[in-house]
Amino acid sequence: MQNIDLDIKHVYGTVSEAAVDALMPEAKAGLAHLVNADAAGNDFLGWLDLPSRTDEALTSDIEAAARSLRENCDVVVSIGIGGSYLGAKAVIESLSNAFSAYGADAKGPVMLFAGQNIGEDYLNELMAYLEGKRFGIIVISKSGTTTEPAIAFRLLKARLEAEIGKAEAAKRIVAITDAKRGALRQLATEEGYKTFVIEDSVGGRFSVLSPVGLLPIAVAGFDIRALLDGARHMQEKLQQPTEENIALRYASARNALYRDGKKIEILVNYNPKLHYFGEWWKQLYGESEGKDGKGIFPAAVDNSTDLHSMGQWIQDGERSIFETVLSVENPDKTVVIPSDEANLDGLNYIAGKRVDEVNKMAELGTRIAHVDGGVPNMRITIPALEERYLGELIYFFEIACGISGYMLGVNPFNQPGVEAYKKNMFALLAKPGYEKETEAIKSRLG
Ligand code: PA5
Repeated sequence: MQNIDLDIKHVYGTVSEAAVDALMPEAKAGLAHLVNADAAGNDFLGWLDLPSRTDEALTSDIEAAARSLRENCDVVVSIGIGGSYLGAKAVIESLSNAFSAYGADAKGPVMLFAGQNIGEDYLNELMAYLEGKRFGIIVISKSGTTTEPAIAFRLLKARLEAEIGKAEAAKRIVAITDAKRGALRQLATEEGYKTFVIEDSVGGRFSVLSPVGLLPIAVAGFDIRALLDGARHMQEKLQQPTEENIALRYASARNALYRDGKKIEILVNYNPKLHYFGEWWKQLYGESEGKDGKGIFPAAVDNSTDLHSMGQWIQDGERSIFETVLSVENPDKTVVIPSDEANLDGLNYIAGKRVDEVNKMAELGTRIAHVDGGVPNMRITIPALEERYLGELIYFFEIACGISGYMLGVNPFNQPGVEAYKKNMFALLAKPGYEKETEAIKSRLG
């Protein structure tokens, strides 16, 4: 059977194979810290064996909750931000028909997302769209106190209750949160919502293979068992300290590049369905590594679209970047370029070829140009955009992130920097308990 794979040989023009290999012992030490749970952040390693720990009972429970929402709703709004949003969004977008929002090949209710911004227009327009529709809500917050999802949930809950009454509304709301703590847990208990638990040891950005990601993905009509199978397969493979372990090789290569002055990594896709996979990856690596004044800056581009906007910078700008390409080997559908008698557009030289063949040549041509231009290239091949391979990819990036973070010398599992803006926002909004901060920040505003 095919699996995802990694090719790092096109970094060797910048850092030598020997330099990458020399970091393998460090990478193996990072993996050992994860497996033995003996380093900083070891209380946040619940994700490491999540695929094998997710048993039949939990899987069936998630599927049953998804079935109930699918049967009773035309629209389901998943409310969450950061790690409580990006994983599900990434998987759903990767697997969905590009035009499902317009009704093409819809696999179930329309899936919408809220609580991932505080845009007033967005919320107003969402509420207007939901008017008169049979909608349900999945509200996801590990802490249960995050402002953005809390605002969206307050609005949507009130709307749903006004439309169908409190008791019926409660049947269409599922809450995913901490087992005991937080405002959302308390509310869910009081209102009698169906709930799922986010374990203490599973941080937001590592939670896509928990109910946080699995429930919205199942509601959207996708096979969470296949997703977990793929992740399980990688869990078995990538916890082994072998030379072939692609997580160890990826972590070694990116750290060798970083130490050589390559401070930015661009995750590149050649399939627009992977746009949100890039967004998920940015949170995973950005929050895990960007601390203590260190860390590779994670960026993402969608090619060939962005070759016409960011291509100039990547080819020719400051030589501080490297790229990791996500390459899908087999598209799901077929489109052949037709021949045209007049050939006014000059495209007959590619008539009869599949569009994907052109796309692959765009990818290859770009790689050669970038490597020539001083942009080292790694390539991850994904046999197809299917649940199993996405499960493999997710687990691969998660474990490689933990290894890489330890190689960098940071705790990959905390995120102290995320609190700074919240403190200021609460002070500016005069949140009770922030009186001193309110006074201090107001005095700085002049
Ligand atoms: O720092 C983080 O982990 C955040 O980005 C969270 O993912 C995000 O704030 C959501 O948190 P919560 O699930 O607690 O609402």
